[in-house]
Amino acid sequence: MGVVVYGSEIAKKLKLEMTEYIQNLKESGKRLPKLVVVLVGENPASISYVKGKEKACTEIGMENEMVKLPETTTQEELLEVVKSLNEDRSVDGILVQLPLPKQIDEHKILHAIDPSKDVDGFHPYNLGKMMLQEETFISCTPKGIIRILEEIGMSDLSGKHAVVIGRSNIVGKPLVQLLINHNATVSVCHSRTQNIEQVASQADILIVSVGKARLINRNWVKDGAVVIDVGINRDEHNKLCGDVDFDDVIDKVSYITPVPKGVGPMTITMLLENTIHSYNLKENK
Ligand code: GUN
Repeated sequence: MGVVVYGSEIAKKLKLEMTEYIQNLKESGKRLPKLVVVLVGENPASISYVKGKEKACTEIGMENEMVKLPETTTQEELLEVVKSLNEDRSVDGILVQLPLPKQIDEHKILHAIDPSKDVDGFHPYNLGKMMLQEETFISCTPKGIIRILEEIGMSDLSGKHAVVIGRSNIVGKPLVQLLINHNATVSVCHSRTQNIEQVASQADILIVSVGKARLINRNWVKDGAVVIDVGINRDEHNKLCGDVDFDDVIDKVSYITPVPKGVGPMTITMLLENTIHSYNLKENK
């Protein structure tokens, strides 16, 4: 029977440490770290994610502000907002929630965020630095996944075969790079891959981020594999579920992250950590 790894528990521990850190800053009369999240439009999933981020900041005592803009916001208007946040010295982290409405070029916005405030790690400069294994902001979901692996004693992935299903800019692509940096042998699968089930079933570590409810059943999973489920889906009964059929694979895996309470809480926690890191870089310059 596999061990269920609750990201929510790891997150709780890390948030407690961050709460103490911020409390100490407060007691010494210092400026506090601040995150600004920009939400454009009314995408229900985005609203829910942004609320989660707001709640987490408040929980640990971090300064935070939500900038809510209408669906009809133009690219120029959003660029102006980003510019003023770049220039605001009280702001340590800027996150523009994706996806953006179709009239806005996502790349233009991500390029416009000051790389020193890019706590999402989405700016090409920071992605390039990660590739070169230089100190930088690492995208929150991939960073959270690596932390989960570390928590179960898998810091060095030498000799391990990791299979990543999904090639998004937010999760799959940066994750592949991070896994390589941790010495894993990495295969990437996506919608155009042939024999995907066969590739997946060779994984020591199987990481799935495709957004398809319970796509992965026991035939995709090698005996004793570690399974990390990044998907957040609603099934036909409107119940939250991952990309992995948890009940079907649980007796076959060594470790598995559940949905909810798995990767999701770690993503938010890494965002808080990146914001504190940005604050420290500014304050200790
Ligand atoms: N949309 C879904 N996940 C993310 C994320 O990690 N960051 C941003 N900015 N948008 C997202």
